[in-house]
Amino acid sequence: MSATLEDGKLMDSFSTVIRTASHEQHTEAETSTFMSDLLGGRLGVEAYARYTEQLWFVYEALEAGADRLTCDPVAGPFIRPELFRLAALERDLAHLRGAGWRAALSALPATAAYAARVRRCAEQWPGGYIAHHYTRYLGDLSGGQIIRDKAEKAWGFARKGDGVRFYVFEEIANPAAFKRGYRELLDGIRADDLEKQRIVAECKRAFALNTGVFGALGEEFRLSA
Ligand code: HEM
Repeated sequence: MSATLEDGKLMDSFSTVIRTASHEQHTEAETSTFMSDLLGGRLGVEAYARYTEQLWFVYEALEAGADRLTCDPVAGPFIRPELFRLAALERDLAHLRGAGWRAALSALPATAAYAARVRRCAEQWPGGYIAHHYTRYLGDLSGGQIIRDKAEKAWGFARKGDGVRFYVFEEIANPAAFKRGYRELLDGIRADDLEKQRIVAECKRAFALNTGVFGALGEEFRLSA
């Protein structure tokens, strides 16, 4: 399957190109040891809390730079407050770790690298920022719902309550419709084909950064054989 013509023009819609290009890495992330163990109910709530802490660093980087990008012609249309996750993550962390959660928060080196890359894109490259935005938020709206369901069952969180608020998009009544709208935004992105290819490459990097975090968490929460 080829996504480009000889002159470098993209054949498929951009949302299809980006989705197809990251498909293999999606499977890799989904089936990583840490995710499989976590969702298979083989890890304790401590592992889930540690993972949630790592997410805080990623979303802090994504959302701290968002305000400045609202007027950007490329990234601006993607900045939608109903997607913001930081407040929900903070509620979850207060529930998981207690009121002093912030003092005990620490980023794994893989997480620090991921957050630094997101921040750099937010500051210097709106197209790259979109790649990270897509990788996180569209994933959260999709597979995130599976993770929420498993987490509620495994560790007894109230349905859509504290502990799993990160996965609950209170202001998005119809996630399927939202995702359709998001793909239309991707398809209408103001970027030439070369820039689109760079964005796809950044999306792959975003997936690799996620896999890196899973790898580090897998090391920390290794199950004895
Ligand atoms: C166990 C973990 C995961 C599960 C069960 C899962 C599952 C899913 C499912 C069911 C979809 C919906 C596909 C569709 O709309 O047809 C999806 C989409 C997506 N996931 Fe995941 N996922 C997981 C992890 C991840 C991770 C770690 C990332 C990246 C950080 C990610 C990023 C995405 C993206 C970007 C999409 C949207 C694809 C598109 O329609 O363009 N997912 N996921």
